[in-house]
Amino acid sequence: MKFKKEELHSIVNSVKRHIEMEALGGAEDLLFPADEKNRSAISLESLEKEVISCLRCDLHRTRTKAVFGAGNPGAKLMFVGEAPGRDEDLRGAPFVGRAGQLLTKIIESIGLRRKDVYIANVLKCRPPNNRNPFPAEILACENYLLKQIELIKPRVICALGKFAAQSLLATNEPISRLRGRFHDYRGTKLVPTYHPAYLLRNPGDKRLVWEDMKKIRKYLKER
Ligand code: URA
Repeated sequence: MKFKKEELHSIVNSVKRHIEMEALGGAEDLLFPADEKNRSAISLESLEKEVISCLRCDLHRTRTKAVFGAGNPGAKLMFVGEAPGRDEDLRGAPFVGRAGQLLTKIIESIGLRRKDVYIANVLKCRPPNNRNPFPAEILACENYLLKQIELIKPRVICALGKFAAQSLLATNEPISRLRGRFHDYRGTKLVPTYHPAYLLRNPGDKRLVWEDMKKIRKYLKER
């Protein structure tokens, strides 16, 4: 397997941090400090504080603002995107750029409002120039998303695009094959669909996302 220089740098830094965490008494202590060790006592607010000051990967060096997530903490439907882009990095909020406007329309197409759902990303910090996330960055960030899902307890997770779907389902299957059906994510239904940014470039596939959203709407109505 070949790595680019910056990828290697990121992996080496992650390993270094992991060793430092072990020396400090375990990785848990860094992500969940001593007074928050009781995982069930962790709130979204305290998790957000962790994320805002997170140093777990090199993306903290280039971010303007970390983007924790936004929406209804009791949402039945949770969307998971890839990573903040330029607009999100500047505002500290998820999906506020052009792709975000399209996501709002997608949400409204099934009779919901943005404030009814919860929106988060796999990565909480913007990769420079919107490059694809590195595996080491996804790994460094993944506990934050897992904890968000655990706290929100949505009935359905809609994974937007390849990175969200593949990292949550731990698979390399292409999004074209993953989308359109229900998967199991730790006991929660997960529906992958195309990312709104992809739809801006491929508007012909909007009808496929509409099909996926109808399935989600039906499932939520029945429960
Ligand atoms: N794309 C994403 O995946 N997430 C955002 O928050 C914005 C654009």
